[in-house]
Amino acid sequence: MKNRKSIMAWIVFLCLFNYSAWSQEVSKQDYFYATVTTEDARDLQKQYPNEVIIYESVDGVSAVKMTVNAADHLHHNVLTHGPGYVYMSSLDKAVQSIKKAQANKSSKQAKQLAVNYTIDQDTYVNQSLNLVDNLEIENTIQTLVGYGTRYHTYSSATQSVVDIKAKWDNMAAGRSDISTRLVYHSSTNMPSAVLTIQGTTYPDEYVIIGGHIDSTNPSNNSNAPGADDDASGIATITEAARVLIEMDFRPQRTIEIMAYAAEEVGLRGSGEIAQDYSINNVNVIGYAQFDMTNYKGSTYDVYLINDQYTTPVLNNFMMQLMDHYNASGTHQLSYSTTQCNYGCSDHASWEAEGYNATFPFEASFSGSNPYIHTSSDTYNQAPLANSVHAAKFAKLALEFLIETAKADGGTTPTCNVPSGLSSSNITTSSATVSWSSASGAASYDIRYRIAGGSWVSTTSSSTSKSLSGLTVDTNYEFQVKSICSGQESAYSSSATFRTLSNNPVSYCASSGNDVSYEWIENVTVGSLNNTSSSDGGYADNTGQSVSLTAGNTYSVSLTPGFMYSSYSEVWRIWIDYNHDGDFTDPGEQVYSGTSSSTSSGSFTVPSGASSVTTRMRVSMRYNNAPSSCGSFDYGEVEDYTVTINGSLLAAKGGEKTVREAAGMKIFPNPANTETIALTIEDGFQDEGVVRIMTIDGKTLETKTIMEPRVEVDISRLPAGHTYILVFESGDVKKTQSFIKQQ
Ligand code: BES
Ligand code: ZN
Repeated sequence: MKNRKSIMAWIVFLCLFNYSAWSQEVSKQDYFYATVTTEDARDLQKQYPNEVIIYESVDGVSAVKMTVNAADHLHHNVLTHGPGYVYMSSLDKAVQSIKKAQANKSSKQAKQLAVNYTIDQDTYVNQSLNLVDNLEIENTIQTLVGYGTRYHTYSSATQSVVDIKAKWDNMAAGRSDISTRLVYHSSTNMPSAVLTIQGTTYPDEYVIIGGHIDSTNPSNNSNAPGADDDASGIATITEAARVLIEMDFRPQRTIEIMAYAAEEVGLRGSGEIAQDYSINNVNVIGYAQFDMTNYKGSTYDVYLINDQYTTPVLNNFMMQLMDHYNASGTHQLSYSTTQCNYGCSDHASWEAEGYNATFPFEASFSGSNPYIHTSSDTYNQAPLANSVHAAKFAKLALEFLIETAKADGGTTPTCNVPSGLSSSNITTSSATVSWSSASGAASYDIRYRIAGGSWVSTTSSSTSKSLSGLTVDTNYEFQVKSICSGQESAYSSSATFRTLSNNPVSYCASSGNDVSYEWIENVTVGSLNNTSSSDGGYADNTGQSVSLTAGNTYSVSLTPGFMYSSYSEVWRIWIDYNHDGDFTDPGEQVYSGTSSSTSSGSFTVPSGASSVTTRMRVSMRYNNAPSSCGSFDYGEVEDYTVTINGSLLAAKGGEKTVREAAGMKIFPNPANTETIALTIEDGFQDEGVVRIMTIDGKTLETKTIMEPRVEVDISRLPAGHTYILVFESGDVKKTQSFIKQQ
């Protein structure tokens, strides 16, 4: 990483020289103008008293003249920065630049205060999250890699921009409020592409996401696949746009999606665009950069870059979005923070113009993709298959866009998307799919496919449809949309099922020997409710089935029947999730309880469970825990069929999904109490520091904690606000927002 960075720094350096009147032959003793931090300038002056002249300093940054020799020294001593200084073509430019930076700072602060980020678009956001398709992202990345190189001087780079614009045009066909354009630049021949969705109510207020479409490989620019850097970002923002269009989202504010030219040679495309917006006083409410989204190289899913090139209020808003939408469930993702400490991507162009910018990144800086800027930045380097990691960033992009642009109230969907998808009557070649009736729907369109294959469509005027001609022992995915009078809804999120195999698995026998005192009277699991008196020790109820969805929690209620008086009964339920004919794999015992009356509780189907039709065994034994096989003295066993609607990820690629919580819990949240309970679930090392901050980054309270589980006093914090709690212990840092209620 260090190497790559210094190479990049030199490329930036040399490019800047190319722009100037300087000759290529630069002597070590030649002088040039630059801006540099005042601290660095003074240090350097001490070491090279005759080679550094400080002309003017504003707000910790100085306009200087120095030798290439001194600059070299600065550059080599910088560990976490880019070159360490910014080249300026004249003294005048250098002085102007530091003054502008100061003016920007105050105008930026004013702008930041003017924006009030809120979260109130749950219906739209949740609809959008279900529509994100990781395979669409994979496709776009592969297409971009196919250009061979997208280095800005190559015609293939320009072609990739022209083609992405064409793809966007196709997606937007029929929408007169959506337009696309190519933006031509003076600092490169490669154009950038922009897609605009015109806002209905506040068309002059902009919400923008972007990434760079160019790539680089300093050792051979004709082979720069740039799969992660940054085909992944372009694919991520393209998917966000595709979803907005699929759900027919009409924003109040104008939304723009940007694919920049020539980022790798000094943020040229974004630099020109951001400057142009600033000169024209375009009101940009927020900017989010997507550069490298598909390489999961660290513990958490998303790392927000929180160095001086991003904006704290917007970073905090991103964290609140993730707390609100991604804390649990199918769209769960975890986050942390990291830093570049130099203007490492296009967000810096927007930040430099005084706009609020944020940059959610694929990993911690040190854990990020090590193959970028080489011929090995190919698709298959990603640790998670099928662009699952990038899909999380598409979801975050949608949360950002929808919550900052806000839905046009006039288009609240009245033709609702169907929900509650399930499957039943599964055989080797057929299945019945069903769903809950959706308001406004006169009929439904159903589409199904072998997971990852092409869709087959059919229709139904009721809330179920039987599908035939299916392939044996195969995962299927299906979606349903409502057809209303004059309009139709978006497709629902997918549900899955698996057709039966020709070689059904068989199970060990199990039964109670004696049912003269007690038996299983009622089994209620989710929507299954079966009452029977004694079945003689065993009942094959596999003709009765219940549909369960991965990640969901189901209630259980188990009632014994007694002949004379009641006894203590031990209950167990197993589900053969992996369908291998036993109940002994980890997690297959889903319930255990002891009671002399009804035993009740719940269990959760693992979120990574695959689609399968399989066996559920319910066993009740007098006074002792039953095993899943064999017979026992007193009690009874009943077998049922369960159909698991597996996680889509498991169905699509078969890959394991990685789910980590942020490892820190705040309870209650929102808090209406004087204290909150803070639990550090991992990473606590002997002691740690807890900091409570306002959402604009001001620290209010700091406290050292010696235990991973503590009560934190919040009585002094004004009520009715959101706060950020930061926990730090060694190199572990966790951040989470909480609300103190009125
Ligand atoms: N995608 C990288 C930035 C990056 C790399 C961020 C690794 C975090 C971790 C970007 O395309 C890039 O290479 N930027 C240059 C600087 C830019 C001004 C040319 C860099 O990081 O050296
Ligand atoms: Zn990049």
